[in-house]
Amino acid sequence: MNKRLFKIVPAMMMVLILLAMTGCAKKDQDQTTNTEAVVEEGTETTSVEGNETEVQETEDGTGTEGEVPTPTQAQEEATATQETPLVEGGIKDVYEQYSIKAGTCLSDAMITQSKYTDLITENFNSITLENFMKPDYVLNKSKSIEAGEIVVEFTKKTTDLLDWAKSNGMSVRGHVLVWYSQTPDWIFYEKFDKAQGLVDRDTMLARMESYIKQTFEQLDTLGYTDMFYAYDVVNEALMEDGSYRDCLWKQIIGDDYIWYAFSYADKYAPESIKLYYNDYNEQFKTDAIVKLAQSLVDEAGKSLIDGIGCQGHLYTKDSIDSYMLTLKAFSALGLDVQITELDVSLGTWQKIDSASEDNLKAQGQYYFELVNKIVEGNAAGTTSVSGITYWGFADNLSWRRDRSPLLFDNSLKPKYAYFGALQDHDNAGY
Ligand code: GLA
Repeated sequence: MNKRLFKIVPAMMMVLILLAMTGCAKKDQDQTTNTEAVVEEGTETTSVEGNETEVQETEDGTGTEGEVPTPTQAQEEATATQETPLVEGGIKDVYEQYSIKAGTCLSDAMITQSKYTDLITENFNSITLENFMKPDYVLNKSKSIEAGEIVVEFTKKTTDLLDWAKSNGMSVRGHVLVWYSQTPDWIFYEKFDKAQGLVDRDTMLARMESYIKQTFEQLDTLGYTDMFYAYDVVNEALMEDGSYRDCLWKQIIGDDYIWYAFSYADKYAPESIKLYYNDYNEQFKTDAIVKLAQSLVDEAGKSLIDGIGCQGHLYTKDSIDSYMLTLKAFSALGLDVQITELDVSLGTWQKIDSASEDNLKAQGQYYFELVNKIVEGNAAGTTSVSGITYWGFADNLSWRRDRSPLLFDNSLKPKYAYFGALQDHDNAGY
Protein backbone atom coordinates (compact mmCIF):
# COMPACT_ATOMS: atom_id res chain seq x y z
CA MET A 1 0.00 0.00 0.00
CA ASN A 2 2.75 2.39 0.99
CA LYS A 3 4.55 1.98 -2.22
CA ARG A 4 1.44 2.52 -4.29
CA LEU A 5 0.49 5.63 -2.38
CA PHE A 6 3.98 7.02 -2.53
CA LYS A 7 3.71 7.02 -6.28
CA ILE A 8 0.92 9.55 -5.97
CA VAL A 9 3.12 11.95 -4.03
CA PRO A 10 4.86 13.68 -6.94
CA ALA A 11 1.51 14.26 -8.65
CA MET A 12 0.02 15.60 -5.44
CA MET A 13 2.99 17.88 -4.92
CA MET A 14 2.46 19.40 -8.32
CA VAL A 15 -1.16 20.05 -7.43
CA LEU A 16 -0.11 21.61 -4.12
CA ILE A 17 2.42 23.85 -5.83
CA LEU A 18 -0.26 24.98 -8.23
CA LEU A 19 -2.69 25.60 -5.37
CA ALA A 20 -0.06 27.54 -3.46
CA MET A 21 0.67 29.63 -6.51
CA THR A 22 -2.97 30.52 -6.81
CA GLY A 23 -3.13 31.46 -3.14
CA CYS A 24 -5.39 28.59 -2.16
CA ALA A 25 -3.07 26.66 0.10
CA LYS A 26 -3.96 28.04 3.52
CA LYS A 27 -2.92 24.97 5.45
CA ASP A 28 -0.85 26.77 8.07
CA GLN A 29 -3.52 29.30 8.73
CA ASP A 30 -6.24 26.66 9.02
CA GLN A 31 -4.06 24.59 11.23
CA THR A 32 -3.68 27.32 13.81
CA THR A 33 -7.36 28.08 13.88
CA ASN A 34 -8.58 24.55 14.01
CA THR A 35 -6.32 23.11 16.66
CA GLU A 36 -7.88 25.41 19.20
CA ALA A 37 -11.22 23.73 18.81
CA VAL A 38 -10.14 20.14 18.99
CA VAL A 39 -11.01 19.31 22.57
CA GLU A 40 -14.09 20.92 23.97
CA GLU A 41 -13.39 23.51 26.59
CA GLY A 42 -13.40 22.13 30.09
CA THR A 43 -13.34 18.51 29.06
CA GLU A 44 -12.57 16.55 32.20
CA THR A 45 -9.83 14.02 32.35
CA THR A 46 -11.31 10.56 32.53
CA SER A 47 -10.93 8.70 35.77
CA VAL A 48 -8.12 6.49 36.73
CA GLU A 49 -7.89 2.93 35.56
CA GLY A 50 -5.50 0.16 36.25
CA ASN A 51 -3.01 -0.92 33.65
CA GLU A 52 -3.72 -4.59 33.93
CA THR A 53 -3.40 -6.27 30.60
CA GLU A 54 -7.11 -6.54 29.98
CA VAL A 55 -6.47 -8.44 26.79
CA GLN A 56 -4.60 -11.57 27.74
CA GLU A 57 -1.21 -11.36 26.13
CA THR A 58 -0.09 -14.39 24.21
CA GLU A 59 3.57 -15.24 23.93
CA ASP A 60 3.90 -13.19 20.81
CA GLY A 61 2.23 -10.28 22.52
CA THR A 62 -0.49 -9.97 19.94
CA GLY A 63 -3.37 -10.55 22.31
CA THR A 64 -5.91 -13.14 23.24
CA GLU A 65 -5.52 -16.66 22.00
CA GLY A 66 -7.65 -17.46 19.00
CA GLU A 67 -7.89 -13.91 18.04
CA VAL A 68 -7.44 -11.45 15.26
CA PRO A 69 -11.00 -10.23 15.13
CA THR A 70 -12.58 -9.46 11.80
CA PRO A 71 -13.36 -5.79 11.60
CA THR A 72 -16.97 -4.92 12.12
CA GLN A 73 -18.83 -3.45 9.17
CA ALA A 74 -18.90 -0.11 10.94
CA GLN A 75 -15.15 -0.24 11.40
CA GLU A 76 -14.55 -1.09 7.79
CA GLU A 77 -16.80 1.66 6.55
CA ALA A 78 -15.49 4.18 9.01
CA THR A 79 -11.85 3.39 8.49
CA ALA A 80 -11.96 3.09 4.75
CA THR A 81 -10.35 6.50 4.72
CA GLN A 82 -9.49 8.45 1.66
CA GLU A 83 -6.57 7.30 -0.43
CA THR A 84 -4.59 10.24 0.84
CA PRO A 85 -0.96 10.02 -0.06
CA LEU A 86 1.26 9.25 2.84
CA VAL A 87 4.05 11.70 3.38
CA GLU A 88 7.20 10.14 2.05
CA GLY A 89 9.43 9.19 4.95
CA GLY A 90 6.37 8.88 7.16
CA ILE A 91 6.11 9.87 10.79
CA LYS A 92 9.85 9.61 11.45
CA ASP A 93 10.76 12.27 8.87
CA VAL A 94 8.13 14.64 10.15
CA TYR A 95 9.29 14.23 13.77
CA GLU A 96 12.92 14.45 12.83
CA GLN A 97 12.39 18.11 11.96
CA TYR A 98 11.55 18.59 15.63
CA SER A 99 14.34 16.33 16.94
CA ILE A 100 11.78 13.83 18.22
CA LYS A 101 12.33 10.13 17.73
CA ALA A 102 9.36 8.22 16.27
CA GLY A 103 8.91 4.75 17.69
CA THR A 104 6.72 1.70 17.71
CA CYS A 105 6.65 -1.36 19.88
CA LEU A 106 7.77 -4.49 18.09
CA SER A 107 6.43 -8.02 18.41
CA ASP A 108 7.59 -11.13 16.62
CA ALA A 109 4.34 -11.17 14.62
CA MET A 110 5.24 -7.79 13.18
CA ILE A 111 8.53 -8.84 11.60
CA THR A 112 7.18 -11.84 9.73
CA GLN A 113 5.29 -10.01 6.98
CA SER A 114 6.45 -7.26 4.67
CA LYS A 115 3.08 -5.52 4.93
CA TYR A 116 4.05 -4.78 8.55
CA THR A 117 7.77 -4.25 8.13
CA ASP A 118 7.19 -1.79 5.27
CA LEU A 119 5.00 0.32 7.48
CA ILE A 120 7.49 0.17 10.33
CA THR A 121 10.56 1.09 8.33
CA GLU A 122 8.69 3.83 6.50
CA ASN A 123 7.40 5.48 9.66
CA PHE A 124 9.64 4.75 12.62
CA ASN A 125 13.27 5.03 13.61
CA SER A 126 12.99 3.59 17.10
CA ILE A 127 11.56 0.38 18.49
CA THR A 128 10.72 -1.04 21.89
CA LEU A 129 10.28 -4.78 22.21
CA GLU A 130 6.64 -5.19 23.23
CA ASN A 131 7.44 -8.18 25.40
CA PHE A 132 10.72 -9.90 24.77
CA MET A 133 13.03 -7.81 26.95
CA LYS A 134 10.75 -8.08 29.96
CA PRO A 135 12.18 -10.04 32.91
CA ASP A 136 10.05 -13.07 32.01
CA TYR A 137 12.00 -13.40 28.75
CA VAL A 138 15.55 -12.64 29.82
CA LEU A 139 15.88 -14.56 33.09
CA ASN A 140 16.65 -18.24 32.71
CA LYS A 141 15.33 -20.49 35.49
CA SER A 142 17.10 -23.77 34.80
CA LYS A 143 20.44 -22.06 34.26
CA SER A 144 19.99 -20.04 37.46
CA ILE A 145 19.31 -23.22 39.45
CA GLU A 146 22.27 -24.92 37.84
CA ALA A 147 24.63 -21.99 38.45
CA GLY A 148 23.28 -21.23 41.93
CA GLU A 149 23.01 -17.58 40.92
CA ILE A 150 20.70 -15.55 38.74
CA VAL A 151 21.39 -16.01 35.02
CA VAL A 152 20.34 -13.69 32.20
CA GLU A 153 19.95 -15.25 28.80
CA PHE A 154 17.99 -13.57 26.04
CA THR A 155 15.47 -15.83 24.31
CA LYS A 156 15.71 -16.52 20.58
CA LYS A 157 12.73 -14.26 20.01
CA THR A 158 14.56 -11.47 21.83
CA THR A 159 17.64 -11.76 19.64
CA ASP A 160 15.55 -12.24 16.48
CA LEU A 161 13.81 -8.95 17.16
CA LEU A 162 17.03 -7.15 18.07
CA ASP A 163 18.69 -8.54 14.94
CA TRP A 164 15.81 -7.24 12.87
CA ALA A 165 16.16 -3.83 14.52
CA LYS A 166 19.87 -3.82 13.82
CA SER A 167 19.59 -4.76 10.19
CA ASN A 168 16.97 -2.06 9.72
CA GLY A 169 19.00 0.69 11.36
CA MET A 170 16.61 1.18 14.27
CA SER A 171 17.38 2.82 17.60
CA VAL A 172 16.08 0.84 20.57
CA ARG A 173 14.43 1.69 23.92
CA GLY A 174 15.13 -1.07 26.42
CA HIS A 175 12.00 -2.20 28.27
CA VAL A 176 12.19 -3.18 31.15
CA LEU A 177 14.49 -4.16 34.03
CA VAL A 178 12.53 -3.95 37.29
CA TRP A 179 8.75 -4.35 37.27
CA TYR A 180 6.11 -6.05 39.40
CA SER A 181 4.53 -7.74 36.38
CA GLN A 182 5.81 -10.18 33.75
CA THR A 183 8.62 -11.00 36.16
CA PRO A 184 9.18 -14.60 37.24
CA ASP A 185 8.41 -15.28 40.93
CA TRP A 186 11.23 -17.81 41.29
CA ILE A 187 13.85 -15.06 41.32
CA PHE A 188 12.65 -14.04 44.80
CA TYR A 189 13.02 -17.44 46.48
CA GLU A 190 15.85 -19.40 48.08
CA LYS A 191 17.45 -21.70 45.54
CA PHE A 192 15.14 -20.20 42.89
CA ASP A 193 12.50 -22.58 44.21
CA LYS A 194 9.04 -21.32 45.16
CA ALA A 195 8.68 -24.16 47.67
CA GLN A 196 11.44 -22.45 49.71
CA GLY A 197 11.19 -19.17 51.61
CA LEU A 198 11.77 -15.71 50.18
CA VAL A 199 15.40 -14.62 50.17
CA ASP A 200 16.61 -11.82 52.46
CA ARG A 201 17.26 -8.19 51.42
CA ASP A 202 20.98 -8.58 50.84
CA THR A 203 20.53 -11.64 48.64
CA MET A 204 17.83 -9.88 46.61
CA LEU A 205 19.99 -6.81 46.17
CA ALA A 206 22.85 -9.01 44.99
CA ARG A 207 20.51 -10.75 42.53
CA MET A 208 19.20 -7.42 41.28
CA GLU A 209 22.72 -6.10 40.77
CA SER A 210 23.81 -9.24 38.96
CA TYR A 211 20.69 -9.24 36.75
CA ILE A 212 21.21 -5.61 35.70
CA LYS A 213 24.94 -6.10 35.19
CA GLN A 214 24.43 -9.20 33.05
CA THR A 215 21.77 -7.51 30.94
CA PHE A 216 24.13 -4.73 29.87
CA GLU A 217 26.98 -7.23 29.45
CA GLN A 218 24.82 -9.38 27.22
CA LEU A 219 23.85 -6.42 25.07
CA ASP A 220 27.52 -5.72 24.64
CA THR A 221 28.58 -9.30 23.95
CA LEU A 222 25.87 -9.70 21.34
CA GLY A 223 26.77 -6.43 19.65
CA TYR A 224 23.54 -4.55 20.41
CA THR A 225 24.73 -1.81 22.76
CA ASP A 226 25.10 0.87 20.11
CA MET A 227 21.44 0.62 19.10
CA PHE A 228 20.19 1.37 22.61
CA TYR A 229 19.64 4.97 23.59
CA ALA A 230 17.23 4.58 26.50
CA TYR A 231 16.27 1.95 29.06
CA ASP A 232 13.28 1.71 31.38
CA VAL A 233 14.95 0.81 34.65
CA VAL A 234 11.77 0.66 36.74
CA ASN A 235 8.22 0.41 35.44
CA GLU A 236 4.93 1.19 37.21
CA ALA A 237 6.17 1.39 40.80
CA LEU A 238 3.72 4.07 41.91
CA MET A 239 0.04 4.07 42.72
CA GLU A 240 -2.27 7.00 42.03
CA ASP A 241 -2.34 7.94 45.75
CA GLY A 242 1.42 8.41 45.65
CA SER A 243 2.23 5.23 47.57
CA TYR A 244 4.59 2.57 46.30
CA ARG A 245 2.93 -0.42 44.69
CA ASP A 246 3.15 -3.58 46.71
CA CYS A 247 5.35 -6.16 45.01
CA LEU A 248 7.99 -8.72 45.88
CA TRP A 249 10.85 -6.34 45.06
CA LYS A 250 9.46 -3.92 47.65
CA GLN A 251 8.51 -6.60 50.19
CA ILE A 252 11.99 -8.09 50.23
CA ILE A 253 14.23 -5.07 49.68
CA GLY A 254 12.09 -2.22 50.97
CA ASP A 255 11.03 1.06 49.34
CA ASP A 256 14.60 1.78 48.33
CA TYR A 257 14.54 -1.03 45.75
CA ILE A 258 13.89 1.68 43.15
CA TRP A 259 16.95 3.65 44.23
CA TYR A 260 19.10 0.51 44.06
CA ALA A 261 17.78 -0.40 40.61
CA PHE A 262 18.83 3.03 39.31
CA SER A 263 22.12 2.91 41.16
CA TYR A 264 23.03 -0.45 39.55
CA ALA A 265 21.83 0.65 36.14
CA ASP A 266 23.91 3.81 36.48
CA LYS A 267 26.90 1.66 37.39
CA TYR A 268 26.64 -0.80 34.49
CA ALA A 269 24.91 0.97 31.61
CA PRO A 270 27.10 2.90 29.20
CA GLU A 271 26.69 6.68 29.26
CA SER A 272 25.00 6.53 25.86
CA ILE A 273 21.98 4.69 27.30
CA LYS A 274 19.73 7.07 29.17
CA LEU A 275 17.97 5.67 32.24
CA TYR A 276 14.22 6.12 32.63
CA TYR A 277 11.47 5.69 35.17
CA ASN A 278 8.35 4.66 33.22
CA ASP A 279 4.71 4.65 34.36
CA TYR A 280 1.07 4.77 33.23
CA ASN A 281 -1.69 7.14 34.38
CA GLU A 282 1.16 9.60 34.65
CA GLN A 283 -1.28 12.52 34.55
CA PHE A 284 -2.74 11.24 37.84
CA LYS A 285 0.61 10.42 39.45
CA THR A 286 2.53 13.55 38.48
CA ASP A 287 3.52 14.75 41.96
CA ALA A 288 4.50 11.27 43.08
CA ILE A 289 6.68 10.75 40.00
CA VAL A 290 8.32 14.16 40.47
CA LYS A 291 9.08 13.31 44.11
CA LEU A 292 10.49 9.92 43.17
CA ALA A 293 12.68 11.34 40.40
CA GLN A 294 14.06 13.96 42.80
CA SER A 295 15.01 11.24 45.27
CA LEU A 296 17.11 9.35 42.72
CA VAL A 297 20.46 10.94 43.43
CA ASP A 298 23.67 9.29 44.60
CA GLU A 299 25.70 10.13 47.71
CA ALA A 300 27.61 12.79 45.76
CA GLY A 301 24.37 14.45 44.66
CA LYS A 302 24.54 13.18 41.07
CA SER A 303 21.22 12.29 39.47
CA LEU A 304 20.85 8.56 38.77
CA ILE A 305 17.91 9.09 36.42
CA ASP A 306 18.02 10.72 32.99
CA GLY A 307 14.41 10.67 31.96
CA ILE A 308 10.77 9.98 32.64
CA GLY A 309 8.81 7.69 30.37
CA CYS A 310 5.13 8.51 30.07
CA GLN A 311 3.31 5.48 28.72
CA GLY A 312 0.47 7.55 27.27
CA HIS A 313 -2.28 4.97 27.21
CA LEU A 314 -4.88 7.65 26.65
CA TYR A 315 -8.54 7.98 25.63
CA THR A 316 -10.08 10.42 23.22
CA LYS A 317 -11.98 12.01 26.11
CA ASP A 318 -8.88 12.56 28.26
CA SER A 319 -7.86 16.18 28.58
CA ILE A 320 -4.83 17.06 26.48
CA ASP A 321 -4.32 20.25 28.49
CA SER A 322 -4.05 18.25 31.68
CA TYR A 323 -1.65 15.85 30.00
CA MET A 324 0.55 18.72 28.86
CA LEU A 325 0.78 19.98 32.46
CA THR A 326 2.25 16.62 33.40
CA LEU A 327 4.78 16.74 30.57
CA LYS A 328 5.72 20.26 31.64
CA ALA A 329 6.15 19.25 35.29
CA PHE A 330 8.49 16.42 34.30
CA SER A 331 10.40 18.59 31.88
CA ALA A 332 10.85 21.25 34.55
CA LEU A 333 12.97 18.74 36.48
CA GLY A 334 15.60 19.11 33.78
CA LEU A 335 15.05 15.51 32.76
CA ASP A 336 14.40 14.13 29.34
CA VAL A 337 10.77 13.11 28.75
CA GLN A 338 9.49 10.52 26.32
CA ILE A 339 6.05 9.22 25.45
CA THR A 340 6.80 5.52 25.53
CA GLU A 341 3.62 3.57 24.75
CA LEU A 342 1.19 5.95 23.09
CA ASP A 343 -2.22 4.72 22.05
CA VAL A 344 -5.47 6.66 22.14
CA SER A 345 -8.51 4.49 22.71
CA LEU A 346 -11.99 5.65 21.75
CA GLY A 347 -14.11 7.15 24.55
CA THR A 348 -13.25 6.69 28.20
CA TRP A 349 -11.93 3.64 30.01
CA GLN A 350 -15.32 3.20 31.63
CA LYS A 351 -17.22 3.53 28.36
CA ILE A 352 -15.52 2.63 25.13
CA ASP A 353 -16.97 4.38 22.11
CA SER A 354 -17.73 2.57 18.86
CA ALA A 355 -15.45 2.97 15.87
CA SER A 356 -17.90 5.30 14.11
CA GLU A 357 -16.78 7.86 11.56
CA ASP A 358 -17.24 10.68 14.06
CA ASN A 359 -15.31 8.93 16.81
CA LEU A 360 -12.47 8.06 14.47
CA LYS A 361 -12.33 11.69 13.37
CA ALA A 362 -12.19 12.77 17.00
CA GLN A 363 -9.30 10.35 17.44
CA GLY A 364 -7.46 11.82 14.45
CA GLN A 365 -7.90 15.28 15.93
CA TYR A 366 -6.70 14.06 19.30
CA TYR A 367 -3.48 12.67 17.88
CA PHE A 368 -2.98 15.83 15.87
CA GLU A 369 -3.47 18.12 18.83
CA LEU A 370 -1.39 16.09 21.25
CA VAL A 371 1.63 15.93 18.97
CA ASN A 372 1.15 19.54 17.93
CA LYS A 373 1.16 20.74 21.55
CA ILE A 374 4.27 18.72 22.28
CA VAL A 375 6.03 20.26 19.30
CA GLU A 376 4.92 23.72 20.46
CA GLY A 377 5.97 22.96 24.04
CA ASN A 378 9.41 21.85 22.93
CA ALA A 379 9.81 24.97 20.79
CA ALA A 380 8.79 27.18 23.69
CA GLY A 381 11.12 25.33 26.06
CA THR A 382 8.29 24.28 28.37
CA THR A 383 8.56 20.59 27.47
CA SER A 384 11.55 18.46 26.61
CA VAL A 385 9.98 15.51 24.82
CA SER A 386 12.63 13.70 22.81
CA GLY A 387 10.67 10.69 21.65
CA ILE A 388 7.15 9.53 20.89
CA THR A 389 6.73 5.77 20.74
CA TYR A 390 3.38 4.39 19.63
CA TRP A 391 2.36 1.12 21.25
CA GLY A 392 2.08 -0.47 17.85
CA PHE A 393 0.65 0.90 14.63
CA ALA A 394 -2.25 -1.33 13.55
CA ASP A 395 -5.43 -1.86 15.55
CA ASN A 396 -5.49 -5.60 14.95
CA LEU A 397 -2.07 -6.01 16.60
CA SER A 398 -2.84 -3.84 19.60
CA TRP A 399 -3.26 -5.07 23.20
CA ARG A 400 -6.32 -2.77 23.16
CA ARG A 401 -7.68 -3.88 19.83
CA ASP A 402 -11.25 -3.64 21.15
CA ARG A 403 -10.75 0.16 21.40
CA SER A 404 -9.30 0.86 17.93
CA PRO A 405 -6.48 2.89 19.47
CA LEU A 406 -3.86 3.03 16.75
CA LEU A 407 -2.95 4.60 13.44
CA PHE A 408 -3.89 1.99 10.87
CA ASP A 409 -7.07 -0.07 10.74
CA ASN A 410 -7.36 -3.85 10.67
CA SER A 411 -6.65 -3.92 6.97
CA LEU A 412 -3.71 -1.53 7.38
CA LYS A 413 -5.48 1.46 5.87
CA PRO A 414 -4.28 4.71 7.40
CA LYS A 415 -6.86 6.16 9.78
CA TYR A 416 -7.44 9.81 10.56
CA ALA A 417 -5.25 8.95 13.55
CA TYR A 418 -2.31 8.34 11.23
CA PHE A 419 -2.63 11.72 9.61
CA GLY A 420 -3.05 13.30 13.04
CA ALA A 421 0.14 11.65 14.25
CA LEU A 422 1.83 12.81 11.06
CA GLN A 423 0.69 16.41 11.64
CA ASP A 424 -1.22 16.39 8.37
CA HIS A 425 -4.01 18.62 9.64
CA ASP A 426 -6.26 18.48 6.60
CA ASN A 427 -6.51 14.72 6.67
CA ALA A 428 -6.69 14.27 10.42
CA GLY A 429 -10.48 14.32 10.68
CA TYR A 430 -11.15 18.06 10.83
C1 GLA B 1 2.43 -1.77 30.22
C2 GLA B 1 3.84 -2.19 29.98
C3 GLA B 1 4.01 -2.60 28.57
C4 GLA B 1 2.90 -3.52 28.12
C5 GLA B 1 1.60 -2.88 28.30
C6 GLA B 1 0.59 -3.80 27.68
O1 GLA B 1 2.15 -0.56 29.67
O2 GLA B 1 4.78 -1.22 30.29
O3 GLA B 1 5.20 -3.25 28.43
O4 GLA B 1 2.91 -4.69 28.86
O5 GLA B 1 1.47 -2.64 29.69
O6 GLA B 1 0.96 -4.11 26.36
